[in-house]
Amino acid sequence: MKLWGGNYSAGPDAAFWEFNRSFSFDRRLLAEEIAASKAFVRALGRCGAIPVADAETLDRGLDTVFERSLKEPDYRDLDVEDVHSFVEERLGEVVGDLAGQAHLGRSRNEQTVTALRLWVRGTIDRLRGGLRAVVAALVEQGQAGADTVMPGFTHTRAAEPVTFGHFAAAHAWALVRDDQRLRDARGRVNVLPLGSGALAGSALDLDRKAMAHELGFEAVSPNALDAVMDRDFAVEFVSACAMLQTHLARLAEDFIHFAGPEHGFVELPEAFTTGSSLMPQKKNPDSLELVRGKAARVDGDLVRLLALLKGLPAGYQKDLQEDKEAVFDAADAALGSVAIMAGVIAGLSQRPDAMRAAAAGEEMMAAGLAVALAREGMPFRKAHGVVGALVAEARKGGRSLRDTAAKGLKETSPAVAARLDQLFDPDEAVRAKSLPGGTAPDAVRASLAGALEALQG
Ligand code: ARG
Repeated sequence: MKLWGGNYSAGPDAAFWEFNRSFSFDRRLLAEEIAASKAFVRALGRCGAIPVADAETLDRGLDTVFERSLKEPDYRDLDVEDVHSFVEERLGEVVGDLAGQAHLGRSRNEQTVTALRLWVRGTIDRLRGGLRAVVAALVEQGQAGADTVMPGFTHTRAAEPVTFGHFAAAHAWALVRDDQRLRDARGRVNVLPLGSGALAGSALDLDRKAMAHELGFEAVSPNALDAVMDRDFAVEFVSACAMLQTHLARLAEDFIHFAGPEHGFVELPEAFTTGSSLMPQKKNPDSLELVRGKAARVDGDLVRLLALLKGLPAGYQKDLQEDKEAVFDAADAALGSVAIMAGVIAGLSQRPDAMRAAAAGEEMMAAGLAVALAREGMPFRKAHGVVGALVAEARKGGRSLRDTAAKGLKETSPAVAARLDQLFDPDEAVRAKSLPGGTAPDAVRASLAGALEALQG
């Protein structure tokens, strides 16, 4: 007998029964479903809808169901429709017919969204913990490399020298914003739907605030119909995961190249690489490639949720059962990715000599040279052209830009020509960029410290 079977003459079509069931995935909400059910039966007892003694029996019965579910894996295998039916059926085995009272005036429409909100809230907290470890590892590496010059890239071409710490701080700050997005989303997730019934609210005198308090919700939903039908909180969560995953993928992409033989700026911890079945020399950055790859999965989950919601009429529709797997999938990808990234970053070895050697490329000083000429009075656009011509001349003759500039500027700009040692020194170049947010070591140290501080909120 299904829990809704009263007006049915027979059971459902076998194939449809399987198609309709969500227990294979919504069993992940068991702890949340039981916590919410406990709060609900207590509220029933408090308002006199059922005797307090019955509420206590139900409350304890729910604990028994949970404990057995944890201890006995087989206990969870039951041919039920969903996690809500599972709890009700198992509760019936513990407390008999009284189990039916746990459902007094309560709809699965409010149960499913209550459990999902609790689950998302807990997951946000775990994810933020993991993210904190990634940022902390980046900041630590960045502080260690705050003075280490390396090439900075635009269009994947060496552009201007920066410090390794500057690069690390850039990625750290993007992740700080992801943390802030998750924190913001948490506030809108953390709202209690219970007391909404199927869509119209409840005729019982349930103390919604007390239920919210017990479950750690910060507010009660202000409209029962909205509460059961909307999943914007899930979209926000998955959207924050998608942005986070995009940032992690970019970081992974950078480290894949920086650790490769062309750059050799860092070495990946061996435990996060894998060998090749054919080529004995390989240590492949599979961990980072998977983090990058999982971004596609989370993007898909976000589109899946948005598409699911678009065009639904007001009220609960069974379409909404499809929300959970997208949420779980995005969460699993993000949780896994932050854990792996924290390990990879903490275990990275920096290769300052390789970074420094690459940062000595003379053409990266071209912009600094043009600025120096302009500061001596030459209009910048003209200075840009003069240095551009020097670059072309040096390339054509296969000569060093520095020597070419020494010759070319001796007459026209002797003051700049006299400072070429300094202007072609990458350490000098980064030290000069000392504004807040710039790549000078002191500015970088401050930025890195700021990133850690911003995470505390
Ligand atoms: N398994 C369902 C879901 O995930 C629970 C809600 C069912 N409610 C209903 N009216 N059929 O959405």
